[in-house]
Amino acid sequence: MSTTVVVGVQWGDEGKGKFVDILAHDADIVVRFQGGHNAGHTLVVGDERTVLHLIPSGVLNPGKICVIGNGVVVDPAVLVDELAALRARGYLTDDGCLKISDEAHLILPYHKAIDLARERLRGRGEIGTTGRGIGPAYEDKVARTGIRIVDLLDEAVFEEKLERNIREKNQYLKAILQEEALDFGAIHDAFSAHAERIRPYVTDTALYLHREIEAGRRVLFEGAQGTMLDVDHGTYPYVTSSNCVAGAVAAGSGIGAGVVKRVIGICKAYTTRVGNGPFPTEELGEIGARLRETGDEFGATTGRPRRCGWFDAVLVRQAARLNGLTGIALTKLDVLTGLDPLRICTAYRADGERFERVPASMRLLGAAVPEYEELPGWTEPLSGVRRLEDLPANARRYVARLEELSGTPFTMISVGARREETIVLG
Ligand code: IMP
Repeated sequence: MSTTVVVGVQWGDEGKGKFVDILAHDADIVVRFQGGHNAGHTLVVGDERTVLHLIPSGVLNPGKICVIGNGVVVDPAVLVDELAALRARGYLTDDGCLKISDEAHLILPYHKAIDLARERLRGRGEIGTTGRGIGPAYEDKVARTGIRIVDLLDEAVFEEKLERNIREKNQYLKAILQEEALDFGAIHDAFSAHAERIRPYVTDTALYLHREIEAGRRVLFEGAQGTMLDVDHGTYPYVTSSNCVAGAVAAGSGIGAGVVKRVIGICKAYTTRVGNGPFPTEELGEIGARLRETGDEFGATTGRPRRCGWFDAVLVRQAARLNGLTGIALTKLDVLTGLDPLRICTAYRADGERFERVPASMRLLGAAVPEYEELPGWTEPLSGVRRLEDLPANARRYVARLEELSGTPFTMISVGARREETIVLG
């Protein structure tokens, strides 16, 4: 491996953390390139469970360098807390192991206040955001009014930009969103303290990555969220505010477009989504509840129950195309034990038309009726299986059909949360 990107194929929560953690064994550097602390990666190492939101999952592998790239939006308070929690557990004891881009944009308290207030005002039409201020922070970046880490570290620049922004945001918060105004002094003082905590890690990460890649270091890019949450290619407007597809690596970390050689999609053996928006294969009854319970489908960031349903091959095939996947790691196959029959969606029908792609219109996708094919299930627990040939015949058949429909070779299959509960293929 030289440069690999790992992306979510569905609506996030595919279990990327586990595979990034595994793939990080063969990497020298692990990089995040988009999103913020809306992500939540649950890692289980031995009996220890760690949830990370901002720092790349590779951090639990000693000696790896973790990079937070320019495409990430950073809430310094969260970063400082995460650093402290990791250090308390004996990780990240060397400052040189974490590098944060000086060009990354900050999430400020007004971003969070705006995110929450807008959701409240949207009522039933809410997006179901994580409420972390992600959207408003990216809005400011694109509007060219954002504050970057490099600005935070320059006292005079930070003061001036914060003062100007707070004045404007307070007017918006009060007049349009019916919220309280925020206090400049409190935010200024808290962020100035955070600045000193993160200063040792801040650098030109694009240059750092360029040099390391030139020197032959192995780099793993860790995507957050999932392809269907991508702001361009996802189920807009029920998406996050960044590009989550593999192509975002170049812009979000400052490397050349041709550098990435391997693109691994992480894909659940069924489908889940948190937040609102169309979900054609959603199961609202007993099957959905069963997947939620058995799969422990509750958000790592917000604790919200995830919506659950059958595997959607239309969506996965589309994600394979959009990301240029070279392989798929299938997760949570063990959760399907005991379900019989299993269903796989191969196309949708809406407005009298048959779709083998995800339509851009949310009206159509919302009305889409899945075409299913059924396969027989199995009853054996899978968590002890380490070789494909040891899977029950019906599980092998199910995996083979998913692989065929996805049009992408499967490289790994996860049969449990632990690192070792994995079947490595090929
Ligand atoms: P935001 O990213 O907080 O603005 O939320 C926008 C949408 O993306 C909502 O539906 C969230 O539930 C969803 N979302 C954001 N981050 C994640 C994630 O890491 N996993 C799954 N869904 C996410």
